[in-house]
Order: sequence, then structure tokens, then C-alpha cells
Amino acid sequence: MSLERGYVQASRTETGRLLAALAATRTGTIAECGTGCGVGAAWLRSGAPKKTRVITAELDPELAHGVMDMFAGDDIDVMHADWSSLSEHAPFSLIFMDATSAKGWPREKIVELLEEGGMIVLDDFTPCPTWPPVEGGRVDSLRLDWLSDERFTSVDVMVAEDTSVVIAVKK
Ligand SMILES: C[S@@+](CC[C@H](N)C(=O)[O-])C[C@H]1O[C@@H](n2cnc3c(N)ncnc32)[C@H](O)[C@@H]1O
Repeated sequence: MSLERGYVQASRTETGRLLAALAATRTGTIAECGTGCGVGAAWLRSGAPKKTRVITAELDPELAHGVMDMFAGDDIDVMHADWSSLSEHAPFSLIFMDATSAKGWPREKIVELLEEGGMIVLDDFTPCPTWPPVEGGRVDSLRLDWLSDERFTSVDVMVAEDTSVVIAVKK
């Protein structure tokens, strides 16, 4: 579906394998903010235990309905909705979203949706060996905020030469 739509903003394989491994540790409900073409949701479902629910929200109607059709029968709940509508299904054991989306969305709203021990997974960062992390010559405040929030145990994982993923687990 990604290729059909000329859509390249999908989770890459390295991130997908990480998502599947993290999902394998989760009970309850896993949420994805921004379905895109469904690549991340498919990785999450592939790793999650059978009883763990996977729900994903997408604002774009064409993408949302396309993915709904694609996943009919796959035990992935696709909502055509703003990510904030996911709150009806909270709390979550894992929330997955890309860094660009996370920049635009209030951090505290995301934190409220997580259960104790729940994790946020943010992908699409550029690997950076310095502290504080820098992006394009400026401090990467999104990454800094998640990595230094004392309510979380967190890590920045370089999954490929050009991509890193932040994982923050709520204490
Ligand atoms: C980078 S893509 C997501 C890729 C997907 N998570 C994956 O792993 O393949 C970001 C998606 O977020 C969607 N989006 C943007 N704002 C949104 C919002 N407020 N609520 C839900 N989805 C949104 C965009 O339409 C786009 O499809």
C-alpha cells in the first residue's frame, strides 16, 4: 500500500523489528498515533501477544480507510480520527508515534494516556552522540525532554546508521 500511494514515510525494517520485540512484552492495549500506510501497526501486531489489543488512529481519510480494508480480519483496530480520540481507549501499555508528530502534540497529554509501566516509543530521530542531543545545529528539545523526564526510564537506541528511536518507560 505504501508503494501504491507513493508514500515513503513508513517505519523501516529495523524500527519495525524493535517495535515487534517491544510489543511482545505488552499486555492491555497498544496505541499508534498516525497509521500512515499501516507498516508500524503491522509490526506491532506481529509481536504483540494475541490478547493484547492494537489500535491505531489516522487523520487522513483515504489512508485510514485504505488501511482498515487492508487489515480487515487482522485484529488491528484502525480509527479514522485525530490521535486525541485514542484517549477513549486508554490507558495504554505502549504508545508509538513519529518524532515529527510528537513535536506538535502536547507531551503531558501523551503521558496521561500511559499506564504505569507503559512505554512511549518515538521513531525517526537522527542519531546523535552528544549530550544534550543536537539536531540541525540546535538542541533537540523533544528528545532532551523525553530523555530527562524523571518520571521515565528512557533510552535513545540507534537502530540504523541514520535512524534512532527513543523509548521511555513510565515508572
Ligand atoms: C510518519 S507517518 C506514520 C507512519 C506510521 N506510524 C508507520 O510506522 O508506518 C505520520 C502519519 O500521521 C498522520 N497524522 C498527522 N497528524 C495526525 C493526527 N493529529 N492524528 C492522527 N494522525 C495524524 C499523517 O496523516 C501520517 O499518515
